[in-house]
Amino acid sequence: MGDNVGAKDVNIDPWSSNQSTDYNRIIEQFGLSDMSNITVPNPSHLHRRGIIFAHRDLDLVINAYNNQENFGVLTGLMPSGKMHLGHSMVIEQVKWFQKMGGDVTIAVADLESQATRGISLAKGRDIALTEYIANYAALGLDPEKTNVYFQSTRSAVQKLGFQLGKRTNLNEFESIYGFKGDTNLAHVQAPMVQVGDILHPQTEEFGGLRPIVVPVGVDQDPHLRLTRGVAAKSNWFNIKENTGPGLLIGLSVQDENASILGKQPNGRLDRNKVTEVFNGIVAKLRELGYSDLNSNPKQGTITIPAATRSDKSRIRIKLLQYERELGGMGLLSPSSTYHHFAVGLTGDKMSSSKPKTTIFLDDDLETLTKKIRKAYSGGQSTIEEHRRIGGNPDIDVAYQYMMYFFENDDHYLAELNSNYRNGRILAGEMKQLCIEKATDWMSNHNEIRHQTEHLVDSFLAFDSK
Ligand code: TRP
Repeated sequence: MGDNVGAKDVNIDPWSSNQSTDYNRIIEQFGLSDMSNITVPNPSHLHRRGIIFAHRDLDLVINAYNNQENFGVLTGLMPSGKMHLGHSMVIEQVKWFQKMGGDVTIAVADLESQATRGISLAKGRDIALTEYIANYAALGLDPEKTNVYFQSTRSAVQKLGFQLGKRTNLNEFESIYGFKGDTNLAHVQAPMVQVGDILHPQTEEFGGLRPIVVPVGVDQDPHLRLTRGVAAKSNWFNIKENTGPGLLIGLSVQDENASILGKQPNGRLDRNKVTEVFNGIVAKLRELGYSDLNSNPKQGTITIPAATRSDKSRIRIKLLQYERELGGMGLLSPSSTYHHFAVGLTGDKMSSSKPKTTIFLDDDLETLTKKIRKAYSGGQSTIEEHRRIGGNPDIDVAYQYMMYFFENDDHYLAELNSNYRNGRILAGEMKQLCIEKATDWMSNHNEIRHQTEHLVDSFLAFDSK
């Protein structure tokens, strides 16, 4: 596994260390949306600097925020190894959504870690709490508005993952993940559990129907594609763009809903039931203010001539509500956002298993300083040459880390950028500046971590649910 992952030429696989950074190609191949169609309120440094570069259906969440409606945020952590700077980017995003009013759920992927990394559940729990959640608390997640749970103890997650297994098959797993006949079945189950992670916060037990956004590195997108696929396939009502003006609603008759939607075992339609369902849909659409509706139970469709593409998500949510009233799961496809990966200290990929590539959140200040001093630089080999040609901040790790992690001031950063490019700042000077910022950041983080350590338990309020 790990060599072919669905996409023809860009290699992205949630378990391998290969990583493409051709983000435009990724957007195109995975069908992500870039950020140009979204107005982000109170953008964080990750937004302002283009580090968050793509999304799926983020407008649902922004709309919920603008309309003061609920939305949730879900992320997961793999309890293996130590938390490093790269991991903190997702938490920055989660924090940002939390400040916008999102309720936060965090999955500890202890089952996945056991299945794919051989880490026992007990060990996974310990790593999650001491390595990750303690750092999340220090990074500023609010324990009152954050719920951490373990995959192994939340039966609703496992149940949902199992049930939705019906909506996919081995061919799809082969094409998304490159799985083959000899793939271990625990590896097949892990993504289904993650589907359960991502979808369960919208069940009635865990907060009800609302948009849920999943901020991730792009390596996790295969899981999102799977999740969105199975959620959509489970839906009882479809919305399509009409050939004429407006939107078209159709039914998706499945084993589970056939009798409710009026299809009898002999294949004939129960007229009364069909009419009842259609009247139900019409009533729901009226609640949204549509009066001109063309309901055609015989053909199995309802046309809304006045609706446009931008109305789709409101209508979808209404129909999912109705589906739930009729006894269906009514699952809304998750939204997601994607961030660029910060480069590793060596200029390659950042990875927990290669300490030289990254800064761990518990590195002491001396180690931190040494690591940055040795980091890959975008400077020239001699001072003369550097003054003459200038350096390249785009590949300079010290500059990059200031941009990603340590420097808040955009103007100052822009100055560093141009002064590096025109040769006024030398590579060694850039490193020194980064060391100073990083040292401040790290000392501050350590101090806060001590102060917030006692909060870890309060993140687990609904642990056993
Ligand atoms: N698979 C993720 C990882 O390798 C962990 C994870 C589990 C996750 N469930 C999730 C991430 C849900 C995002 C959303 O890190």
